[in-house]
This record gives sequence, C-alpha cells and structure tokens, in this order.
Amino acid sequence: MNPQYESILKDKLDADSFAKLAALANDKLHAFVADAIELCEPESVKVCDDSDADRDYIRQRSIELGEETTLTAEGHTIHFDGYNDQARDKAATKYLVPADMELDKKLNQIGRDEGLTEVRGFLAGSMAGRQMYVRFYCLGPTDSVFSISCAQITDSAYVGHSEDMLYRAGYEQFKRIGGEPDFFRLLHSAGRLADNNTSADVDKRRVYMDIAEEMVYSTNTQYAGNTVGLKKLSLRLAIRKADREGWLAEHMFVMGVHGPADRVTYFAGAFPSACGKTSTAMVPGETIVGDDLAYLRQVDGQVRTVNVESGIFGIIRDVNANDDPVIFDVLKTPGEVIFSNILITDGVPHWLGMGEDIPAAGMNHSGEWTDGATDAKGNEITASHKNARYTIRISALANRDELADDPAGVPLGGLIYGGRDSDTCVPIQQSFGWVHGMITMGASLESETTAATLGAEGVRTFNMMSNMDFLAIPLAKYLQNNLDFANGLTDVPLVFGTNYFLKGSDGKFLNGKLDKSIWLKWMELRVHGEVDAIDAPTGLLPKFEDLKALFKQYRDQDYTEAEYVQQFTLRVGENLAKLDRIEAVYQDVADAPQVVFETIAAQRERLTALQAAKGDYVSPLDL
Ligand code: GTP
Ligand code: MN
Repeated sequence: MNPQYESILKDKLDADSFAKLAALANDKLHAFVADAIELCEPESVKVCDDSDADRDYIRQRSIELGEETTLTAEGHTIHFDGYNDQARDKAATKYLVPADMELDKKLNQIGRDEGLTEVRGFLAGSMAGRQMYVRFYCLGPTDSVFSISCAQITDSAYVGHSEDMLYRAGYEQFKRIGGEPDFFRLLHSAGRLADNNTSADVDKRRVYMDIAEEMVYSTNTQYAGNTVGLKKLSLRLAIRKADREGWLAEHMFVMGVHGPADRVTYFAGAFPSACGKTSTAMVPGETIVGDDLAYLRQVDGQVRTVNVESGIFGIIRDVNANDDPVIFDVLKTPGEVIFSNILITDGVPHWLGMGEDIPAAGMNHSGEWTDGATDAKGNEITASHKNARYTIRISALANRDELADDPAGVPLGGLIYGGRDSDTCVPIQQSFGWVHGMITMGASLESETTAATLGAEGVRTFNMMSNMDFLAIPLAKYLQNNLDFANGLTDVPLVFGTNYFLKGSDGKFLNGKLDKSIWLKWMELRVHGEVDAIDAPTGLLPKFEDLKALFKQYRDQDYTEAEYVQQFTLRVGENLAKLDRIEAVYQDVADAPQVVFETIAAQRERLTALQAAKGDYVSPLDL
C-alpha cells in the first residue's frame, strides 16, 4: 500500500478493517478512503466484505443507532426520513462540470471547482463522533460483461443496510479487478443529525455528480433516492459510461411475460417515477427480473438486458391486496423488509391505500401524529407520506424470474414506454417500428409530476425515455444512441407505448390497475406474431376480440365493447397538441436528429387526414 495512505488508514481502521482494505490492491480505492477520512473526520471506520457477519453488523448498527426500529413481524423495520427530506431533490442534484467540458444546458449543473468547494465544505468534519462504513457492491450481476464495481462510503447504517438489500455484493469483485481504476466512488454523509436522527441541515442538502471522475457526493440528506449512491446517482454515471462504450443505461423494469405453452418473453419498460414500473414488474402471473434500472447491450444480434439491482425500493402507497397482491403479501409476511415514512402503531405498519382502516394516531414521518394534524405551513399531514416506500430483496420473492441473476442477461422481445397521461394516448399501442417507437413513444414521453420528486404535483412534464432526470450527456446524443442501438440487430425488439392513467370525461381512470396484465399478454402475442392489430395514425392498436378473450382467460373478466371503445378512442386533437409540444421541445434541443422532425411531421399528417375524414374522436371500430 502507498505509504501516504497507509498512515491515514492505519490510524482509523482496526486490524480487521485494515486487512480487508489492504487485500484489495487498488491505489485509487485506498486514496478514496484516505481522502474521505481526512475530509469527514469519522471517529472510526468499518470496512465490510461480502460476509453475512458484516451484513448483520450493519443491520444491527442501524437499529442500535435508531436509524431503524424493529417492528412486530420478524425481520421488519421502520426508518423515518426528515419531514422535509421525503423525495428526490432535483434542484439540489447537479453535475460538476469541469471548465473544459460542455454539458447540455437542459441539465442541472455547476462548475466543478465551485461545486466541489461547496459540497466538500459541507462534508468537512461531517462524520465527527460517528463511524464510517466502507462497502463494496456491483451494479448488474457479478462476473458479467454488464458488471460495474462500486465503492460506497457512508455514515448511515440505514443506507448501508438498504444497499445490502438492493445491490449485489462486490467485495470479491474488487479482488478480481485488482488495481484497475475503473469503478464508481460514492461518498455520503447524513450530516448533522437532529434529535430524531434525521438530517438537520436539509437546506444544505447536496447531491453532486463529479462526472469527470465517476464520483458522487451526497450530504445532509437520508432519503434513499438521494443517498443510495448505487441507484439514480450511479445511473447518471452509467449513462456516460454506456455512451462511451456503446450500450444503454435505462430507467426500466425488466420482466418475463408468460405466453402460451410455457413460453417466456422478456420486456423492459421505462416509466417516470411513480408511473408503474414496480407494479408492472410485480403483476400477478408473471416473473420479475428488476423494477427500476436496466443495462441493455447488443449481444450476437440480440438485445440482452440485466437488472442493475437485486432488490426493490418501491412506493408503498396504494399497495393493497386487490391491486398489488404479490407485493402486499410480501409486506405482510415476516422476512427482511425496511419500511420508510409510513404510520406505526405498536410495531404494526399502516399506509395510505392499503385497503384497511388506518388508526387515527401513531408515529410517522412527522413524529407523534394524530389524524387531522397540520404542518408548519398549515398543510395536512397524511398518515403516511405519499412517497413512502418499502425495501425488499428480489431473492425473497416467489415471482422472481429464474434468469434474474444470469450474468448473460435476458433477451428482450419488447420495450415499453409510458407516462402519467390523463387525456391523450390510448392504454396500449405498438409502434410501426424501432425508429417510430423511439421517437413518438420514448422520446415523446410526457408525464404529470408526482410526489416522488419535490415540487408541485400534476404538472405535465417532458421526460425523454423516463430518463430525463438522470441524463448526463447531451439530449441529442442520448437520443441518437437509442436510435442507433437497433443497427446490426437480427432480433429487433418491438416498441410499445402504454398509458395506465387515461381518464374519462368524469375525471376517473378508465382502466383498473391490473388491466396492465392484459396489455402485457397482448404484447407477448404481438412479439410472436400471434394476434393482428388495427392500423391507427399513432400506432397499432389491439382488436376488441383479442382483448376480450385475454380478459376472460386471464382475469375472468367480461371486457365490454363499450369499455374498449371508450379506452381506445383516438383523441385526435389531443394527439396533435402533443406533437406540437414535442416538436417545440426538440426545436430547442441542440443538434436534434432530423428524423425526429420527419417522424413528427408524418404522424401529424396521418392524424390531420383522419381528423378531416372522421372528426376529433375516432372509435377504434371506425379505423
Ligand atoms: P418509482 O419507484 O418512483 O420509479 O415508481 P414506479 O414507476 O415503480 O411506480 P409504481 O409502480 O410504484 O406506481 C406508482 C404509483 O402509481 C402507485 O401509487 C400506484 O398505485 C400507481 N399505479 C401503478 N399502476 C397503476 C395503474 O395501472 N393505474 C393507476 N391508476 N395507478 C397505477
Ligand atoms: Mn418503483
């Protein structure tokens, strides 16, 4: 070990931790830990390997420190984030951009020197009196072409415990990479803690990505979306790496859809936060590979994909026995589960929309809570936060797909793009091909904002490929990479657009939450060319008789023609208005590919012709 780091490390690490770190002969890694010690000034440092003992230690520490509290059911714990630290903080999340680098003006950024000074200033001495944990993980399966090694430093045992559940262990992988400098570094400190163990200085909350150095800084926050460095923070680094290396890093679930005769066809789907990735991947009857992040690579003419993660950090609101029976069952059964920001009474968890009566008093993210309580701004405090979550391991799920950890990934039959769209797109349609799908579905995604990010809800927002929050390269380049990705493929995945959130004139959703299971079955049949479709100006629509048969077969539901017509009526004016909005977005994107404008123009022409012939609202039976 380089003597410069050795003295710093020996001073803070006990013999066991020092031996574990020294066994990884990696200068860059030693420098990272030594620098973090000098900067954050922890009282002690614990280096963890992949052993059960170290995992148990972290879990135990989280309970001892009060970051998590045990609940009645064996293995269940509750963690609370600060009242004002309940979601991803987009405004305080920025790229550090060196003077000689240009980043798209649409991306939130700060000069590297200025940003480093600021965030390192907040991190200085931040771990005084506390223990620092040094952890190793792997994004994607280990020992795979998809693997990315990560070193995480944090002073939050809750963050460490969450990562143990959400990511594959990576200490052994670091042994394999030896002295290679190619890994992500993630440094987090919860900062000064208030009496209730939550980050006290959320005004100084910062999440900065040092993209030139593949390093992430996060401080004065605990909410996992801001602190679990391997999640969205690493996604941003992975998007840059993928751009350099010719693959795709996506905000997508991956699942196996089970077709006739035991056939399994894999789909990946990109929906913005709180728009249905987890609930789709956990649909009854199908199998889950992942629910949030996927890497896609071309292998032998096919698209193969892996789950970046090995667990689920899912939204708990509205998870109930009817709508999400598989998840609900896991949350009601003993086993390792971290609940966050829900209501607890006598060791029992309660949340909004769970389908059971919620007690009128208990402990929640605001502290001691009673029904009707209001916060400092006079807003009602709900029993559980709308963005409250649960953390579970995929290995604990009965519906885990058998290829979920396959280092070769799964072959993709289809890609799905969908957002929260109350008035424009039909519930499900297939694109005319890869480019049409990438442009009119992926690159035209809009979604109404939700509680998963701070700020107003219900505002229609452009969200290219659902990846807009995490893009770390110019928009045009990212779009071109997606367009080019199909070049050279022998099996081009079909591209679909879904909309689970379409509403009728009464403002009510037109579909039930499990209708998506039928759209999945339809897509599966389309991949194998086993059902026909209706040619509409915006894409290929399912036929009534096919959906009716699928609803009967899989849900024992009598799907009526009236429902079909209401759901699949083409809203021509709304679709035209959307094209105008999207065109305006791309007119403002530097170097937007010309094919975007051509594809939009062609779609507009088809819609206008239909409007002239049949009016503003056209039944699928009239197409
Ligand atoms: P992140 O984990 O934040 O990335 O979100 P996600 O995309 O995994 O969303 P999730 O599946 O957790 O769903 C988010 C919210 O959308 C929940 O409140 C669900 O109840 C709701 N939701 C999911 N699917 C449907 C649906 O088909 N219809 C309606 N109306 N709501 C849905
Ligand atoms: Mn999710």
